[in-house]
Amino acid sequence: MSAAPWWRDAVVYQVYVRSFADGDGDGIGDLAGITSRLDHLEALGVDAIWLTPCYPSPQLDHGYDVADYFGIDPAYGDLAAFDRLVAEARRRSIRVLMDVVPNHCSSEHPWFRAALASPPGSPERARFFFRDGRGSDGELPPNNWRSVFGGSTWTRVTEADGSPGQWYLHTFSPWQPDLDWSCPDVVAMFRSMLTFWFDRGVDGFRVDAVAVVGKAAELPDAPPVPEGTAENDVWAHNPYTVFWPTAHDHWRDWRRLIDEYEAAHPGRELVTVSEAYTPDRPDLLLQYVGPDQFHQSFCFDLMLAPWRVDTLRVTIEPVAATLTAAGAPLTWTLNNHDTQRGVTRYGRADATEMSSWTKNNLVYTGAPVDLEVGTRRARAAITLAAALPGSLYLFQGEELGLPEVLDLPASARQDPIFFRTEGRETGRDGCRVPLPWSTDAATSFGFSSASVGADAPAAAPWMPQPDDWGAYSVAAQQDDPGSVLSMYRSLLRARRSLLDPDAPLEWPELGAHAGPHPELLVLRRGTVTVVVNVGAVDLAVAEVLPALVGESLLVSSLAGHHDPTVVPADTCCWFGPPR
Ligand code: NOJ
Repeated sequence: MSAAPWWRDAVVYQVYVRSFADGDGDGIGDLAGITSRLDHLEALGVDAIWLTPCYPSPQLDHGYDVADYFGIDPAYGDLAAFDRLVAEARRRSIRVLMDVVPNHCSSEHPWFRAALASPPGSPERARFFFRDGRGSDGELPPNNWRSVFGGSTWTRVTEADGSPGQWYLHTFSPWQPDLDWSCPDVVAMFRSMLTFWFDRGVDGFRVDAVAVVGKAAELPDAPPVPEGTAENDVWAHNPYTVFWPTAHDHWRDWRRLIDEYEAAHPGRELVTVSEAYTPDRPDLLLQYVGPDQFHQSFCFDLMLAPWRVDTLRVTIEPVAATLTAAGAPLTWTLNNHDTQRGVTRYGRADATEMSSWTKNNLVYTGAPVDLEVGTRRARAAITLAAALPGSLYLFQGEELGLPEVLDLPASARQDPIFFRTEGRETGRDGCRVPLPWSTDAATSFGFSSASVGADAPAAAPWMPQPDDWGAYSVAAQQDDPGSVLSMYRSLLRARRSLLDPDAPLEWPELGAHAGPHPELLVLRRGTVTVVVNVGAVDLAVAEVLPALVGESLLVSSLAGHHDPTVVPADTCCWFGPPR
């Protein structure tokens, strides 16, 4: 029997290409910038990176609007720069995953341009969802579906002769027309795309928005949503596309293609990880992951859980039990490019209240934020997540403890959510602000480091950085043993050396006296006991966990100030077995 594949317990680091590092000084992150900063990722100890889409794109959703699935956007480099990145990463034993966007392409994709130039009923239109409108003159959209980014999912086109014409479906923005997967051209194009990038050395793909790829054939009206549903959550209640099952045939087809590719290329171990938000539904999540579907699927519920023992446990235990019983791997994450950063989420005044549990990563309460509290909790949360069985995906900047930038001026905002909701929703720009590498404001805190010493100064970064960004930089943190960065480095080392990847997740009884503790979450992996204190008061271990824990192995709060007999407030500790 072969050993577990590399991805089973891998740490994967998400690179938001535009914001990681700018290698040519134009203010936009790029592939050369990533290559120049691989040392940071090696020192952090990650197994792989996932690059957000870097294909040619008008960048109206920063790459999630793909105009050509077989190239690199000139703003990010070219295929040669891509090959260099893959080779340099491999030299450091870091694998490279890309991002594939199957639900939609860009309205600039040649297929969509051809569809616009072709008449209703043409094969060019059959790759998309073009439909006649309702109303006497077709002036009303074909159904009532709402888009993820706000507004209708339909946009009306002007036909080649100048007359008002059909409508096309876009689950996200009008610049992202949905592809119709019942069209064989679509199936064939993505099959050749996967192979194209595997041939270039890519080790796998994160697969975008898989939950909405299927659509009920007649595109019926969606039922009314529960009263009080947030604007950004309406789309999630549409049963005629969200989790519509027809897409699974295509994911099975992809898996067959990948299995065949591996068989034909000994030594290659490829991975796909699906992005499907399945709030409270481990059974649904399980439909996406397994031997004939995606290799992995994000367990997102933990990311959105309020900072409470009950919600943390209920977002770990059922999903872990359901997937593990089916032999499916677990895939944890606490941050990504669509979600407010953990430091900010956990620092909200209502972060411990059930009412803050929106279960949708686009919907937040506006409660005030205490960054000190949020940082302590974020450190504890990652120390908990890193102890769970399965793999762990990090989002760039979380290892620096970056907060969400909440006060970006409207003039700087770029997220289509902001524009489609006319500013009612601020959108996701605040987690995408370019990374600080140094304390030097003149080089955008090292973001545009390639231009240091060059004749021309670097252009301003594409998204403004806060004035205090330098304090979060790699340079400011790397030699400070108490920094978030130092903690991430030791945490990933400890995960590798102390945890047996095969050790099951167990929930030890806390003992007759303690009972279920309102502020302590306790779990065990093999010989390691993990204790999270979500409360505001330090707890003496011997009093609350008699005979459960031994030597202190790791503590998420500041190093050097830790009494090993105490689990401090908002802190996660790893302990060895009782002596
Ligand atoms: C999910 C991606 O993560 C997000 O950034 C993007 O806007 C949508 N899918 C549309 O592709």
